[in-house]
Amino acid sequence: MILVTGGAGFIGANFVLDWLALHDEPVVNLDALTYAGNLENLNSIWSDPRHVFVKGSIADYDLVDALLRSHQPRAILNFAAESHVDRSIHGPEEFIQTNIVGTFRLLEAIRGFLASQNEDFRESFRFLHVSTDEVYGSLAPDEAAFSEHRKYEPNSPYSASKAASDHLVRAYHHTYGLPVLTTNCSNNYGPYHFPEKLIPLVIHNALSGKQIPIYGDGMQVRDWLFVKDHCSAIRRVLERGKVGETYNVGGRNELTNLSVVNTLCEILDELRPLPNGASYKAQISFVRDRPGHDRRYAIDAAKIERELDWRPSETFETGIRKTVEWYLANDAWVENVTSGSYRQWINRQYQ
Ligand code: NAD
Ligand code: DAU
Repeated sequence: MILVTGGAGFIGANFVLDWLALHDEPVVNLDALTYAGNLENLNSIWSDPRHVFVKGSIADYDLVDALLRSHQPRAILNFAAESHVDRSIHGPEEFIQTNIVGTFRLLEAIRGFLASQNEDFRESFRFLHVSTDEVYGSLAPDEAAFSEHRKYEPNSPYSASKAASDHLVRAYHHTYGLPVLTTNCSNNYGPYHFPEKLIPLVIHNALSGKQIPIYGDGMQVRDWLFVKDHCSAIRRVLERGKVGETYNVGGRNELTNLSVVNTLCEILDELRPLPNGASYKAQISFVRDRPGHDRRYAIDAAKIERELDWRPSETFETGIRKTVEWYLANDAWVENVTSGSYRQWINRQYQ
């Protein structure tokens, strides 16, 4: 079996759902169920005997140690993290605790566990750390996309905490011989994306008749990848990746935020036209910029394409349409996640 951490969040849940649709190998899913973890994401596999859910933190050494010894997973995939840049600006502490201290404790538990295993088990074991392109910092408009050799220049408390976790993973390989793999991926979008992030926030606000907030001039560039393509890349790296290596994952879909928002409005105009015939674009509002806002990210995915023969299946056009359709078909999911503490966050961030 494999152990997934953070498997009730956006990417982790997509990964677990896809894994069980494609494999018979069971999954232990360790998630602390923070505001971003949602068991509703796992409804369709809740009674599946191949899925064992455990509520708990990667920072809990004793719990992780007990899970490793009882389930003996052949691999661990670490999705667990605090993931929202704006929240890291308001309150970095949780990011340090989860992304740095949590990853450290997880690595320590794995180190102890592997020390008690035989050589064959240790040889085939893998720890795959899911990281981000944000560790590389911001690109100028004409600079080449991030390759795996790009130096780390994280600019937000979130990206700095992810960078620190990547360095710990690297150090545990070099010092203790832990069989690690790291992936650094660009911006994901798709089903189960929490509506604090740009794409689901725009869909939710548009449909609720609220303003669609664009930070600054909206000309910041992100490189978008459909979440299921990120999951397929992770499976490929787990299966064929070379121990100790890092792989950049991206969709070669560089777009300004403004063009992403306009595209979303146009799809909504078509699929859920407003009764008065107006466009959702009328709800766009330019708001105060994110402090330290990175101007551009772009991933050079040549290594994973060349060495592991991985390619995304969706273009931005196909993936974004599927995403809008998913949100339109799942208004009950949106309704549930946007109650309670979500409202407090939105009031604080956009007041
Ligand atoms: P998310 O915020 O939607 O989900 C994170 C999950 O981790 C939640 O279920 C949460 O409950 C859980 N969690 C938080 N702290 C935990 C802890 N201490 N122990 C166990 N579980 C804990 O995040 P996401 O967007 O799904 O991102 C998953 C991973 O992928 C993160 O490591 C993130 O840095 C990375 N990543 C995200 C993107 C993206 O665009 N979303 C892109 C590249 C990389
Ligand atoms: O690049 C990978 C990263 O992508 C991941 O590591 C992070 O976990 C993930 O959250 C995402 O980070 P971003 O900061 O790029 O995502 P977010 O959806 O918050 O913002 C995308 C862009 O949209 C960014 O330039 C900020 C802008 N934005 C965001 C929000 C929430 C707005 O203009 N208005 C908004 O209301």
